[in-house]
Amino acid sequence: MAVRKVLRMGHPILLEPSANVNEFNTTDVDNLIQDLFDTMHAEEGIGIAAPQIGVLKRIVIFGVEAQNRRYPNNREAIPLTVLINPVIEVLSDEMEADWEGCLSVPGMRGMVKRYQHIRYRGYDPKGNAIEREVTGFHARVVQHECDHLNGILYPQRIDNMLQFGFKEELAGAMVC
Ligand code: NI
Repeated sequence: MAVRKVLRMGHPILLEPSANVNEFNTTDVDNLIQDLFDTMHAEEGIGIAAPQIGVLKRIVIFGVEAQNRRYPNNREAIPLTVLINPVIEVLSDEMEADWEGCLSVPGMRGMVKRYQHIRYRGYDPKGNAIEREVTGFHARVVQHECDHLNGILYPQRIDNMLQFGFKEELAGAMVC
Protein backbone atom coordinates (compact mmCIF):
# COMPACT_ATOMS: atom_id res chain seq x y z
CA MET A 1 0.00 0.00 0.00
CA ALA A 2 1.38 3.42 0.79
CA VAL A 3 3.18 5.69 3.17
CA ARG A 4 0.74 8.54 3.72
CA LYS A 5 1.40 12.12 4.69
CA VAL A 6 1.06 12.66 8.44
CA LEU A 7 -1.02 15.73 9.30
CA ARG A 8 0.68 18.08 11.70
CA MET A 9 -0.67 20.00 14.66
CA GLY A 10 -2.69 22.93 13.39
CA HIS A 11 -4.49 20.89 10.75
CA PRO A 12 -8.21 21.07 11.60
CA ILE A 13 -8.84 17.35 10.96
CA LEU A 14 -6.70 16.50 14.01
CA LEU A 15 -9.25 18.30 16.22
CA GLU A 16 -12.25 16.31 14.92
CA PRO A 17 -13.78 13.31 16.69
CA SER A 18 -13.62 10.06 14.69
CA ALA A 19 -16.50 7.70 13.91
CA ASN A 20 -16.81 4.04 14.89
CA VAL A 21 -16.02 1.36 12.34
CA ASN A 22 -19.22 -0.59 11.67
CA GLU A 23 -17.99 -3.18 9.19
CA PHE A 24 -14.87 -5.31 9.49
CA ASN A 25 -12.88 -7.08 6.80
CA THR A 26 -13.76 -4.57 4.14
CA THR A 27 -11.19 -3.56 1.53
CA ASP A 28 -11.37 0.04 2.75
CA VAL A 29 -10.59 -0.86 6.35
CA ASP A 30 -7.87 -3.37 5.42
CA ASN A 31 -6.17 -0.85 3.10
CA LEU A 32 -6.38 1.84 5.75
CA ILE A 33 -4.73 -0.43 8.32
CA GLN A 34 -1.94 -1.29 5.88
CA ASP A 35 -1.35 2.41 5.19
CA LEU A 36 -1.22 3.08 8.94
CA PHE A 37 1.44 0.37 9.35
CA ASP A 38 3.45 1.60 6.37
CA THR A 39 3.32 5.19 7.60
CA MET A 40 4.13 4.34 11.21
CA HIS A 41 7.12 2.24 10.20
CA ALA A 42 8.40 4.82 7.70
CA GLU A 43 8.26 7.49 10.42
CA GLU A 44 9.68 5.14 13.07
CA GLY A 45 6.69 5.80 15.27
CA ILE A 46 5.38 3.58 18.03
CA GLY A 47 1.76 4.43 17.40
CA ILE A 48 -0.49 6.17 14.93
CA ALA A 49 -4.18 6.90 14.71
CA ALA A 50 -6.26 7.04 11.53
CA PRO A 51 -7.05 10.77 11.83
CA GLN A 52 -3.31 11.48 11.61
CA ILE A 53 -3.47 10.40 7.96
CA GLY A 54 -6.72 12.26 7.46
CA VAL A 55 -9.24 9.46 8.03
CA LEU A 56 -11.78 10.06 10.81
CA LYS A 57 -12.28 6.42 11.81
CA ARG A 58 -11.70 4.92 15.25
CA ILE A 59 -8.62 2.85 14.41
CA VAL A 60 -5.25 3.05 16.15
CA ILE A 61 -2.16 0.93 15.81
CA PHE A 62 0.76 0.77 18.19
CA GLY A 63 3.62 -1.43 19.24
CA VAL A 64 7.30 -1.21 19.95
CA GLU A 65 10.21 -3.50 20.62
CA ALA A 66 12.16 -2.90 23.82
CA GLN A 67 14.53 -0.42 22.15
CA ASN A 68 13.22 1.67 19.30
CA ARG A 69 15.57 4.16 17.57
CA ARG A 70 13.16 7.02 18.24
CA TYR A 71 12.76 5.89 21.86
CA PRO A 72 16.21 4.50 22.68
CA ASN A 73 15.54 4.43 26.40
CA ASN A 74 12.32 2.51 26.08
CA ARG A 75 12.25 -0.18 28.67
CA GLU A 76 9.15 -2.06 27.82
CA ALA A 77 8.01 -3.85 24.67
CA ILE A 78 4.40 -3.46 23.54
CA PRO A 79 2.96 -6.05 21.15
CA LEU A 80 2.11 -4.73 17.71
CA THR A 81 -1.64 -4.17 17.90
CA VAL A 82 -4.45 -2.92 15.69
CA LEU A 83 -7.23 -1.63 17.92
CA ILE A 84 -10.57 -0.66 16.45
CA ASN A 85 -13.36 1.20 18.29
CA PRO A 86 -11.31 1.31 21.50
CA VAL A 87 -12.81 1.95 24.91
CA ILE A 88 -10.62 2.74 27.92
CA GLU A 89 -11.58 2.01 31.49
CA VAL A 90 -9.46 3.69 34.16
CA LEU A 91 -8.68 1.23 36.97
CA SER A 92 -6.84 3.52 39.38
CA ASP A 93 -6.72 7.29 40.01
CA GLU A 94 -2.95 7.13 40.06
CA MET A 95 -1.27 9.17 37.34
CA GLU A 96 2.35 9.49 36.29
CA ALA A 97 4.09 12.17 34.25
CA ASP A 98 6.51 11.28 31.47
CA TRP A 99 7.78 12.67 28.17
CA GLU A 100 5.71 12.10 25.04
CA GLY A 101 6.16 12.75 21.38
CA CYS A 102 3.81 12.51 18.43
CA LEU A 103 4.25 12.12 14.67
CA SER A 104 1.88 15.10 14.28
CA VAL A 105 4.14 17.28 16.46
CA PRO A 106 7.50 16.40 14.89
CA GLY A 107 10.72 17.07 16.76
CA MET A 108 9.04 17.99 20.01
CA ARG A 109 8.50 16.42 23.41
CA GLY A 110 6.26 17.33 26.31
CA MET A 111 5.65 16.12 29.84
CA VAL A 112 2.19 14.58 30.12
CA LYS A 113 0.33 12.95 33.01
CA ARG A 114 -1.47 9.70 32.19
CA TYR A 115 -3.36 7.08 34.14
CA GLN A 116 -1.09 4.29 35.24
CA HIS A 117 -3.50 1.38 35.20
CA ILE A 118 -6.21 0.89 32.60
CA ARG A 119 -8.22 -1.78 30.84
CA TYR A 120 -8.87 -1.35 27.15
CA ARG A 121 -11.30 -3.09 24.91
CA GLY A 122 -11.84 -3.02 21.18
CA TYR A 123 -11.63 -5.17 18.09
CA ASP A 124 -8.92 -6.53 15.86
CA PRO A 125 -9.18 -6.18 12.04
CA LYS A 126 -11.26 -9.36 11.76
CA GLY A 127 -13.76 -8.15 14.34
CA ASN A 128 -12.50 -10.34 17.20
CA ALA A 129 -12.75 -8.75 20.62
CA ILE A 130 -9.56 -7.53 22.31
CA GLU A 131 -9.41 -6.92 26.05
CA ARG A 132 -6.22 -6.11 27.96
CA GLU A 133 -5.34 -4.77 31.37
CA VAL A 134 -2.12 -2.78 31.19
CA THR A 135 0.04 -0.39 33.17
CA GLY A 136 2.82 2.11 32.70
CA PHE A 137 4.18 2.80 29.23
CA HIS A 138 1.70 0.51 27.48
CA ALA A 139 -1.18 2.34 29.21
CA ARG A 140 0.37 5.69 28.24
CA VAL A 141 0.67 4.81 24.56
CA VAL A 142 -2.94 3.60 24.38
CA GLN A 143 -4.23 6.76 26.08
CA HIS A 144 -2.18 8.93 23.70
CA GLU A 145 -3.44 7.12 20.58
CA CYS A 146 -7.06 7.04 21.72
CA ASP A 147 -6.92 10.79 22.45
CA HIS A 148 -6.37 11.28 18.70
CA LEU A 149 -9.79 9.70 18.08
CA ASN A 150 -11.35 12.43 20.20
CA GLY A 151 -9.44 15.26 18.55
CA ILE A 152 -6.95 15.68 21.39
CA LEU A 153 -3.19 16.13 20.90
CA TYR A 154 -0.78 15.65 23.79
CA PRO A 155 0.23 19.34 24.04
CA GLN A 156 -3.34 20.00 25.24
CA ARG A 157 -2.56 17.80 28.26
CA ILE A 158 0.73 19.44 29.30
CA ASP A 159 0.42 21.03 32.76
CA ASN A 160 3.66 23.00 32.69
CA MET A 161 4.53 24.55 29.35
CA LEU A 162 8.14 24.87 30.52
CA GLN A 163 8.23 21.10 29.99
CA PHE A 164 7.45 21.32 26.28
CA GLY A 165 9.98 21.93 23.55
CA PHE A 166 12.23 20.60 20.86
CA LYS A 167 13.73 17.26 21.70
CA GLU A 168 17.34 18.32 21.07
CA GLU A 169 16.98 21.41 23.25
CA LEU A 170 15.40 19.38 26.04
CA ALA A 171 18.13 16.75 25.99
CA GLY A 172 19.40 17.76 29.44
CA ALA A 173 15.92 17.82 30.95
CA MET A 174 14.76 14.54 29.44
CA VAL A 175 16.25 12.08 31.86
CA CYS A 176 14.00 9.21 30.93
NI1 NI B 1 0.26 11.09 18.48
